[in-house]
Amino acid sequence: MGVVKANCYGHEAEVCLPPLQEGGVDVFGVATVEEARELRYHGIRDRIVLLTSPFLSEREAFPELDIEPLISDKETARWLSATAEAHGIVLQSHIYIDTGMTRNGVNPEEALELTRYVSQLPGLALKGIASHFATSESPDHSYALQQLSQFDGTYREVRDAGFDFDEVHIANSGGILNFPDSHYTLVRPGIALYGYHPAMEEQKNSGFRPVMSLYSVVSSMRRVPEGRAVSYGARYRTSQETYIATLPIGYGDGLMRQLTGKLDVLVKDSRYPVVGTICMDEIMIDLGPTTSVAVGDEVCLIGTSGEESISAWDIAEKGGTIAYEITTMISQRVPRRAIKTIEEHIL
Ligand SMILES: Cc1ncc(COP(=O)(O)O)c(C=O)c1O
Repeated sequence: MGVVKANCYGHEAEVCLPPLQEGGVDVFGVATVEEARELRYHGIRDRIVLLTSPFLSEREAFPELDIEPLISDKETARWLSATAEAHGIVLQSHIYIDTGMTRNGVNPEEALELTRYVSQLPGLALKGIASHFATSESPDHSYALQQLSQFDGTYREVRDAGFDFDEVHIANSGGILNFPDSHYTLVRPGIALYGYHPAMEEQKNSGFRPVMSLYSVVSSMRRVPEGRAVSYGARYRTSQETYIATLPIGYGDGLMRQLTGKLDVLVKDSRYPVVGTICMDEIMIDLGPTTSVAVGDEVCLIGTSGEESISAWDIAEKGGTIAYEITTMISQRVPRRAIKTIEEHIL
């Protein structure tokens, strides 16, 4: 299962879906019914699993879009079944067990009872049994192992009571990488699909290569004297006579304002600091007293230029967050384009 929620973690469904399918993904995990609708709109005929709790008000979308729900409680199972029955179809569904994430899912002790209940509903079929890790990327494996053991025990109990599942799944990227025993019959990578290790400390040596680069361009430039204030709040002052260049990207594009004073960019294989407060639509960089950079030059915010590179994990570290949030925050007004095939990216 490819987890493609939040517009493929900000990478854009339209760009990512064809290579994911080409790479072998044939089940898609989404977070909202609208995301499932968007996949269908893009021509995805493969299976789609909703990874969050279904809303009663959206029940018609399940048969309409052929969405597979995760089932955490009897009440949801009841109305989903009734809706499916009214449409004359059977929804493939997954018993979702809370083994310690405490977000969705049934308590392990109640999993067998829920499974029995779902098995008698005419509109639902038991396709899978699932759970979700809370700490699988962490170097401390103890909590994840506890969850895995809880999941395994519950799965066996339900299976021994006579229930069969095509799909048994708990592994997110961290599970896939750290716990081979968690793979069962289906895995659910998200961040790993986009070239990131789920743990920041592992990114450099992991062999993962971010699939997305983020570029801007020098839109204007000016030479300014020492002591000149730059941007809102006049918080940054030049320490010498220098060239300040402006780039048309800001927090409206997903570069969080709290990254003010912390970001670098790459231009022509060299690294320059972003200076002054990050504006909604623009940022400024300090190029120093002499420069070969000119208006129109490409600027790399995430990606590689010569020997230098910047990843979403580098930015996340500075912003006190995770790579997931950095890529997901890149807003809709930033156009995405596929520039390499999977093969070109890997080679
Ligand atoms: C239920 C579920 N499965 C799988 C994933 C994928 O996780 P990751 O991106 O860490 O691989 C997520 C994402 O948060 C999720 O919510």
